[in-house]
Amino acid sequence: MTEATTPLIEVTDVGKSYGSVIALRDVSTVVRAGEVTCVLGDNGAGKSTLIKILAGVHQHDRGEFRVNGEPVRFASPRDALDRGIATVYQDLAVVPLMSVWRNFFLGSEPTIRVGPLRFLDRRKGKAVTKEALAGMGIDLRDVEQPVGTLSGGERQCVAIARAVHFGAKVLILDEPTAALGVKQAGIVLRHVAQARDRGLGVVLITHNPHHAYPVGDRFLLLKRGAPLGSYEKSEIDLAELTRQMAGGAELETLEHELRTA
Ligand SMILES: Nc1ncnc2c1ncn2[C@@H]1O[C@H](COP(=O)(O)OP(=O)(O)OP(=O)(O)O)[C@@H](O)[C@H]1O
Ligand SMILES: [Mg+2]
Repeated sequence: MTEATTPLIEVTDVGKSYGSVIALRDVSTVVRAGEVTCVLGDNGAGKSTLIKILAGVHQHDRGEFRVNGEPVRFASPRDALDRGIATVYQDLAVVPLMSVWRNFFLGSEPTIRVGPLRFLDRRKGKAVTKEALAGMGIDLRDVEQPVGTLSGGERQCVAIARAVHFGAKVLILDEPTAALGVKQAGIVLRHVAQARDRGLGVVLITHNPHHAYPVGDRFLLLKRGAPLGSYEKSEIDLAELTRQMAGGAELETLEHELRTA
């Protein structure tokens, strides 16, 4: 059935050069509501370049980028946000000394009006933040605590809950589990699955096939800016995804060399 619906995002043969460096070429994929599209690849594969195009940070110079079936070319991240595309970067744009709830709103805090003046509605702000986090199964003791005191995993979770709360349709996560231990990575992946189950289309960038496979619906593998493969989940198993990520035949040769050395 999903084949019949228009994807939230569709890129077709998209490419991007930085001067004479071709960072990305001939990349095609889709992002559908209620599904997770994983982008995998080694350092320099072009993963961040692809999501920066989707997020409005850079523009593609080849191919086509459609949102809800309509060709687009974003001039800024604001344009992408206006279309419901929210991006959580690895180095989260958080203010470490600011409280969790202020970070949650970041400029759109609820206010109360007293005569001609407006004041922050701290009580409401805290309550809304607590409720949004609880709705995603995140239980923080105190939303007044500085965001800098949260663990890396907790920060990712708050950023995901924030995007969901403010009505994002597409959630892009650039290596959300890269710096995390096994347990925290698991918690972040659970929130990725929750965002998906709420009907968002998710783009998950990762190096790790073990993180991608359980939550992913399709897998786009990139290598040196070019597509190495593109699979629906039914077309590939974890072992094969891992093998492809590791360089497949290259790794087998290396293993053989190491064993016989
Ligand atoms: N602003 C830029 N100017 C010039 N070259 C760039 C720029 N950004 C990226 N590149 C080059 O484009 C290629 C792809 O980079 P990109 O950051 O997209 O890779 P990546 O897959 O995200 O890698 P990593 O896993 O290290 O984050 C690399 O060769 C990189 O050096
Ligand atoms: Mg990157």
